[in-house]
Amino acid sequence: MSDTLLQINQALQHRITSEIKQKGAISFAQFMAMALYEPGLGYYSAGLNKLGKDGDFITSSELGTLFARCHATVFAEVLRKLSSPTLMELGAGTGQFCFDILQALDALQVLPEKYCIVEISADLQRVQQQKLSQLPDHLNSKIHWLERPPEKEFEGIIFANEVIDALPVEIFKKAENKYLRLMLGSENQQLSEKWQPFPEHMAQYLTDMQLDLANGYRSEFLPQLDAWISAITTGLKKGMLMLVDYGYGRRTYYHPQRNTGTLVCQRRHQANFNPYQDIGLQDITAFVDFTAVAESMELAGLNVTGYTTQGDFLLDAGINQWLNPADEYSSYYKLVSEMKQLVLPEEMGEKFKTIVAVKNFNYPIKGYSNSRWKEL
Ligand SMILES: C[S@@+](CC[C@H](N)C(=O)[O-])C[C@H]1O[C@@H](n2cnc3c(N)ncnc32)[C@H](O)[C@@H]1O
Repeated sequence: MSDTLLQINQALQHRITSEIKQKGAISFAQFMAMALYEPGLGYYSAGLNKLGKDGDFITSSELGTLFARCHATVFAEVLRKLSSPTLMELGAGTGQFCFDILQALDALQVLPEKYCIVEISADLQRVQQQKLSQLPDHLNSKIHWLERPPEKEFEGIIFANEVIDALPVEIFKKAENKYLRLMLGSENQQLSEKWQPFPEHMAQYLTDMQLDLANGYRSEFLPQLDAWISAITTGLKKGMLMLVDYGYGRRTYYHPQRNTGTLVCQRRHQANFNPYQDIGLQDITAFVDFTAVAESMELAGLNVTGYTTQGDFLLDAGINQWLNPADEYSSYYKLVSEMKQLVLPEEMGEKFKTIVAVKNFNYPIKGYSNSRWKEL
């Protein structure tokens, strides 16, 4: 490990143990929030090369332009039916999706009035600003970075790819028919796990899910999901919210055999399951319970109208239209390979799901003709 990485790792561990000393203990969600987003030190905040081939993991937006181009054809149909629409992206990573979709929408002659980015990491905001400054002025001038989602009413589209999996999860264990919360203490500068009762509202959240789990079962949940979805859609007067991520419907998520949860860490394209190693230098994520996402969308006053796999969505949206065997063979096979990574079941096609909800917008959304309602 280089000196800089070691310094970040040690400074962050010190910040976390100081926080534990001050509070007595912190929840796993608080630990995950610090490990990922602590200003200047967290995984997403410390200026490391995270996304892409040279980083730790690659997202669909980073594979090439097909993911964004497909979404452009779907978004174009929606944007055409809205007045002065805003396109808002949460957690824009390196800015690649924004870079590609604005050019694709420009080619389709359906640009939004504004493209707003809400990004929690100051470091990634800088990366995005640098990348997006390479766009022509008429596109770049549409982009605005917001501190938080707008409360003022707007018509538009809200989109996020791989953001929910990066929200800090609580870890629970079922013991003697009650739910216990994973808390972290510190002994001799080392983190130690302990189990405590949940605060009432979180215990209630778990009870309301009516999961039938054996004692000893351990998994994750996102108690702040309702608040997050309500916050990002507060200003949405008319339009849609689309969220893409890896995950399952609730029955599969909390399957009796999946009794150690879905938490996974990524470093240099290698997965591991130990969140306490290389703190600040590896990504920590959890799969998404899409039933919870659908419930939160409905609670926020939206109608869920589609849920399917990324593979089916992209095929339905017409991903094949960009593959032309008459093209020079190297560019043709590059696109074929990108498409296969996005849609094949054993690649990203089945693991990733896409869910859409609308508000005051009664038109079908392209891409969801094969909705998997039974899985939610
Ligand atoms: C796994 S990356 C995905 C990046 C990008 N969407 C893509 O497709 O490549 C997660 C992104 O979400 C951001 N993020 C995490 N929590 C957020 C939140 N609460 N609000 C806004 N952005 C958030 C991270 O800083 C990062 O940019």
